[in-house]
Amino acid sequence: MAASDSTILGVVILTRHGDRAGFYQDPITYTASSTVITPLGAQQEFQLGQHLRSLYLNATSPSFITGVNDTLVDQTQIHVRADAGGELGVIYDSAVALLQGLFPADTNYTTDLANGTVVTGALGGYQYVPIESVEPANDVSLEGWTSCGAFDASTTAFYNSSAFAQKRNESAAFLSQLPPFLDGRPVTLENMWNIYDFMNVQSIHNEAFSKALPPTFLAQALTLASWHEYGVFTSPQLDGIGNIAGRTILPQILSELASIANASDPLKLAYQSLAYKPFFSLFNMTGAAEQNPLLTGVVPYAAAMALEVRQPLAGGEPVVRLNFKNGTGEEFVTYNFLGASDDVPLSTLVNHVNPALINSTAAWCTVCSNTQDRGCGALALAASKASGGHHQPIGPVGAGFLGAGLTLAVVLAMLAVLAFLGMLTVGRGRAKKAGSTHSRVIFPLVP
Ligand SMILES: *[C@@H]1O[C@H](CO)[C@@H](O)[C@H](O)[C@H]1NC(C)=O
Ligand SMILES: *[C@@H]1O[C@H](CO)[C@@H](O)[C@H](O)[C@H]1NC(C)=O
Ligand SMILES: *[C@@H]1O[C@H](CO)[C@@H](O)[C@H](O)[C@H]1NC(C)=O
Repeated sequence: MAASDSTILGVVILTRHGDRAGFYQDPITYTASSTVITPLGAQQEFQLGQHLRSLYLNATSPSFITGVNDTLVDQTQIHVRADAGGELGVIYDSAVALLQGLFPADTNYTTDLANGTVVTGALGGYQYVPIESVEPANDVSLEGWTSCGAFDASTTAFYNSSAFAQKRNESAAFLSQLPPFLDGRPVTLENMWNIYDFMNVQSIHNEAFSKALPPTFLAQALTLASWHEYGVFTSPQLDGIGNIAGRTILPQILSELASIANASDPLKLAYQSLAYKPFFSLFNMTGAAEQNPLLTGVVPYAAAMALEVRQPLAGGEPVVRLNFKNGTGEEFVTYNFLGASDDVPLSTLVNHVNPALINSTAAWCTVCSNTQDRGCGALALAASKASGGHHQPIGPVGAGFLGAGLTLAVVLAMLAVLAFLGMLTVGRGRAKKAGSTHSRVIFPLVP
């Protein structure tokens, strides 16, 4: 446990969505079917929001964030993004529910009208926090792994590895007992995520299933699914393709940590609502899983990572503390990472992951060898038009830019192309809010 004396400047919160209905993911491409959050899931996220409030927005808490407005939402202090990808509304709705717990209705949320009337917000002063809906079709940051041929190839290689063959042998006896519980689903180790997810959803929502399932089966399936997913969503190399979920989300996280550490930036609380996948890469890339092997598992519904930015009282640069809450009914626990036994200087974290970051859509297109999906087609078209010297107007570029830390060369190249086309609308992620926040238009993934 890290324990140095410090004051907290702010926090970056990453959560997994709450309880949801059934869900299917292609075992190779991880293209997902749609699903919905359940009332239980909404409760889990709401309670998580209340818990976060009790830690960070409560003046009597030791982790109360100095200077934060704990009653009325100050939109310059909070920045929220939600993955609008394969699980469709589940992750976005989780963010809505969490925020309702984080910033409850307040009767001081009022406005004085010219005619002397005082009006309180709806629902007793309920406050609305803007949520940036992150669409995979135009922003790769929260779902780096879809439509990525290199990732699919890496997953296939994992399935063909000797470690996988060995695990297949070890698990064969267990898997052979599962068909009666799987309603015809393929019982293969490759399909382990879908097997576990089906069993988990049924165990929670189907009384007959729950009674029929032998008591150890769900935990055994979780152990296998965790092994499977850790193998898919991590890599022995920091910049390996298996870590793509972490490599695409980290630029945003580092940018938020830096904003919080910067006294002249008002940001205090950044929150990203996610699927389970980025957690594997983040625990792997930060070395947290190496020091704490329990962090190699599938994180439960409504699990939360809180990266606190702290100022040591002894002086020196801001440090980062990694706290993780392992789902409902658990407390936050501080985990060591990057080989340290205490909070880690922010610059140490940045320097460690920097070589592996995928900072822009263009960089992602290169890493994934994609020239058509998720903005890559528009980038390729723009580049070819620019070099060909044609001046026809072209359609809206779907190429979203990641908010932070763009590689200089890429920035300059892209600025040149876009300026040439009169389409220069690049901004920091947070400045982008005005355009893409508040909406929850959901684009299907380009196949
Ligand atoms: C003042 O304006 C509000 C909003 O238009 C209206 O609902 C209210 O009835 C007005 N009050 C008076 C006293 O005119
Ligand atoms: C990351 O995961 C890979 C397995 O994909 C493992 O070989 C490697 O040791 C892990 N790295 C760390 C730092 O835990
Ligand atoms: C979180 O809980 C799961 C059971 O739901 C368990 O398998 C896992 O080891 C726990 N992880 C940590 C970090 O405690």
